[in-house]
Amino acid sequence: MLAQQQRLPGRAGPTAVLLVALLPAVAQAFSGVWRPLEPERPQTWRRLAVAPSTPKFQQAARAALHYFNYRAASPSTFRSLKQVRSGSVWVNAKKGQKFDLELTIENHKPKSNDERLGTCSAVVIFKNHKPKPTVNITCTRLLAKKEREQEDYELYKQMKQLKRPPEGIKIPGNDGYIDPSLQPMWDLAMVGSSYVMWEKTSLSLYYYTMQLTGVKQWVTSGDFINFSYTILLHEFSTQEIIPCQIHLLWYPGKPLKIRYHCQDLGTQEEVSGNGEGSAETSTEILSNF
Ligand SMILES: *[C@@H]1O[C@H](CO)[C@@H](O)[C@H](O)[C@H]1NC(C)=O
Ligand SMILES: *[C@@H]1O[C@H](CO)[C@@H](O)[C@H](O)[C@H]1NC(C)=O
Repeated sequence: MLAQQQRLPGRAGPTAVLLVALLPAVAQAFSGVWRPLEPERPQTWRRLAVAPSTPKFQQAARAALHYFNYRAASPSTFRSLKQVRSGSVWVNAKKGQKFDLELTIENHKPKSNDERLGTCSAVVIFKNHKPKPTVNITCTRLLAKKEREQEDYELYKQMKQLKRPPEGIKIPGNDGYIDPSLQPMWDLAMVGSSYVMWEKTSLSLYYYTMQLTGVKQWVTSGDFINFSYTILLHEFSTQEIIPCQIHLLWYPGKPLKIRYHCQDLGTQEEVSGNGEGSAETSTEILSNF
């Protein structure tokens, strides 16, 4: 401690001598507050020479979109990854990996069969061995705000007006046939699923949604769609299939309320989260930096 203090710049001369003499008493009086100065170590982020076409970039891009889709809470403008256009990655042995990405996205509208394209730029930071990457993502708008609100509201109405809300039905994955009347549910469920996948994604674990089972919509007097289902997540590296029960409350334009519970091997976790809606200008920027 003393040696470090003496090395402080601007402490030469009589002051330093006095300080050194006082130090033991001071250190004792303020023990708990006193800390030896640590030498500043530069944050060493080392850029890796990896082509953006490698799977790591796809996975980072998908994590960023999971976050975006959950926060936007807009089933009608749900974005999926088309391509990573460019990107770079840095590693820091202590902190993790940082991806800087430019991507193209698409939005399929099954009703009209048209495909909307857009671009996003994102920074994604994975902490070593920890899930839930930090994301800052900016995407071009797919629809004007009014148009988007209207489409979300249409979807909301479809679900709210169901004479017989589903109970325990099964909806297949992306390759399977989805009955058009169930499409709104699939879309909304994907928003909830995005939240879970974002929270669980780490440097080594990546998830895909395979199937919805046990879909159940509760009839409630309130305005929210009160919706629960089980998604089967497919973890890419372990090939594990993980069932997650999700309960969500949704109203167009409002933050999504989600609770979920996944049956991971070994661990049981239960997490709840709340979105904050989206800040929208000419672009949409969503960040948890
Ligand atoms: C997030 O990205 C946007 C757009 O690139 C940028 O303006 C903003 O400063 C970033 N936010 C943080 C906290 O890095
Ligand atoms: C949603 O439905 C569940 C199950 O019936 C119920 O316990 C809960 O209170 C409902 N929430 C709202 C906000 O209506």
